[in-house]
Amino acid sequence: MAAPIVDAEYLKEIEKARRDLRAFISSKNCAPIMLRLAWHDAGTYDVHTKTGGPNGSIRFEEEYNHGANAGLKIALDFCETIKEKHPKITYADLYQLAGVVAVEVTGGPTIDFVPGRKIACFTIQDSSVCPKEGRLPDAKKGAQHLRDIFYRMGLSDKDIVALSGAHTLGRAHPERSGFEGAWTKEPLKFDNSYFVLLFLVKSMSEKISMRMNHCHSELLQGESAGLLKLPSDKVLVEDPEFRRYVDLYAKDEDAFFKDYAESHRKLSELGFTPP
Ligand code: HEM
Repeated sequence: MAAPIVDAEYLKEIEKARRDLRAFISSKNCAPIMLRLAWHDAGTYDVHTKTGGPNGSIRFEEEYNHGANAGLKIALDFCETIKEKHPKITYADLYQLAGVVAVEVTGGPTIDFVPGRKIACFTIQDSSVCPKEGRLPDAKKGAQHLRDIFYRMGLSDKDIVALSGAHTLGRAHPERSGFEGAWTKEPLKFDNSYFVLLFLVKSMSEKISMRMNHCHSELLQGESAGLLKLPSDKVLVEDPEFRRYVDLYAKDEDAFFKDYAESHRKLSELGFTPP
C-alpha cells in the first residue's frame, strides 16, 4: 500500500478509529494493556541515534517477544481488529491513539493527539526496524537506571514521575513480569491514587521509624494492603528530586493530570515533529 498522507480523509479515519477504540476499550476493559502497548512502542526511543520510538515496530515478533513486552501480543491483536476496519491508519498512529483513548475512557486527562508519525522526517510510514532488546526500564532497578533510560529518550525527571502515574491503571501478572497485583484499589480508574498511596506509605513509614502513632500505621496497612509497589515505584519517594513531584501529585490531582497529559504527549511524539 502507498504511504498514507495526513489529509482530510486520513483525519476522518482517525476520528472513526478513535470512536471504535473508545467502544472497544470500554467493552473489553482493556485500557491498561492498551496504554502499556503505546508506552512500550514509544519507550525504545534513543534521542542520540534517533532510533526506536512510536513507530509501530512492536508489531513484529522480533520485538514483541522481548522479555519486557510479555503479554503485549494481546493488545497487538486487539489493535489489529481496529486496523482491519481502518487500514489507512499506520500502526504507529494506531498504537498511540489507543494509548490516548485508554487514558480518556478511564477518566484521565485529555491528551492532544497529532497523527502522521514519520520515519526520520520522511514519509508517514511504519518502521520495519526493531530496536535491540534492553531499551525499556527494568522494574528491579533504582533511580539512576530510570534516569539513564528516560534521559536516553530525551525525557526529564518530571516526565519520569508523571508517566509512572500510569500505574494508577492495571496490574502486574506473575507470568508476564514476575510481579503480581494492582497498584491501586480501582485499577480501571485513572486518578492520582497511585501517588496518594506512595505518599502515605512513605510518610507513615517515616513516622513509624520515629516511633509515632501506632494507630496510623494500622490504618495505612489497611489502605495499602495487597497493593503492589515495584522497586521502580518506591524509588520515586526515596529520591528527593522525584519525591517533589510525588508529593505534589498526591495533593493536587489537577497538577498531576496537567503534567501527565504533557508528558504523555511528549512520549507519544518522540522522534516525530508534528506538522
Ligand atoms: C505494567 C514496569 C513505566 C504503564 C507494568 C508492569 C511492570 C511495569 C513490571 C507489570 C507488567 C505485567 O506483569 O503485566 C514499569 C517500569 C516503568 C514503567 C519499570 C518505569 C518507570 C510505565 C509508563 C507507563 C506504564 C511510563 C505508561 C505511560 C503501565 C500499565 C501497566 C503497566 C498501564 C498495566 C498493564 C496491565 O494491566 O496489563 N509496568 N513501568 N508503565 N505499566 Fe509500567
